[in-house]
Amino acid sequence: MHQIETIISPALFHLHEEGIAHKHVVVIDILRATTTICVAFANGAREILPVASPEEAAAMQKQGWIAAAERNGETVPGFDLGNSPQDYRVETVSGRKIALTTTNGTRALQMSSAASHVWVGSFLNAQTLCDRLIDDNRDVLLFCAGWKDKFNLEDTVFAGYLASLLSEHFSITDDATLAAIDLYNLAAADLKGYLQKASHVNRFKSLHIETDLEACLKLNTLSVLPEFRSGSIQNSQYAPTQS
Ligand code: MLT
Repeated sequence: MHQIETIISPALFHLHEEGIAHKHVVVIDILRATTTICVAFANGAREILPVASPEEAAAMQKQGWIAAAERNGETVPGFDLGNSPQDYRVETVSGRKIALTTTNGTRALQMSSAASHVWVGSFLNAQTLCDRLIDDNRDVLLFCAGWKDKFNLEDTVFAGYLASLLSEHFSITDDATLAAIDLYNLAAADLKGYLQKASHVNRFKSLHIETDLEACLKLNTLSVLPEFRSGSIQNSQYAPTQS
């Protein structure tokens, strides 16, 4: 059986790079980058380019791309969009290409580029993502973007949710994944209530963007499957194998 392992911080990513060319990486940044990317594709975005700096995003504006930049939870002044999934509406993103830089999520995507496949995971597209991982049947790395290399609750809670959905099809012996499953089980009855203690949710409160939390917890509402490949993200066309 293929394995699932969980990386709870980018600072630990180097411990999992052996054999990564044969593994599928799920990049997780629940609040909010991977959620925002899923919403953007659900609303018709054509392509998303994760870039390292606001300057790189701004340079793409000249080529007609939407420039989106977030730092420390706030939209960088002068940019079309920040990182709130609520701003990636159909009328804003449909048919458009988006250059995006965020504090943690876009960096985690770029760190994963050597993997066989890099998928964008969120609560919104979790079941579609699981169907694909089961179909492909390869070793999986659940990569939590965290906060500036620190552990955060929401990403590991989601890793635990995903691992729970996959547990009948994969071998799970990795302590980080076992802990993530326990953390999800602790939170599952009331995700929004559990995450009130999360540091990023408290950051949201100070920035008056609390409503983003609810937008990021809409379980299995989207059937998109964004894939990061050759430097950019596109929505992969996927229909689950009929079980
Ligand atoms: C990130 O990408 O680091 C987070 O999504 C930050 C945010 O958007 O608040």
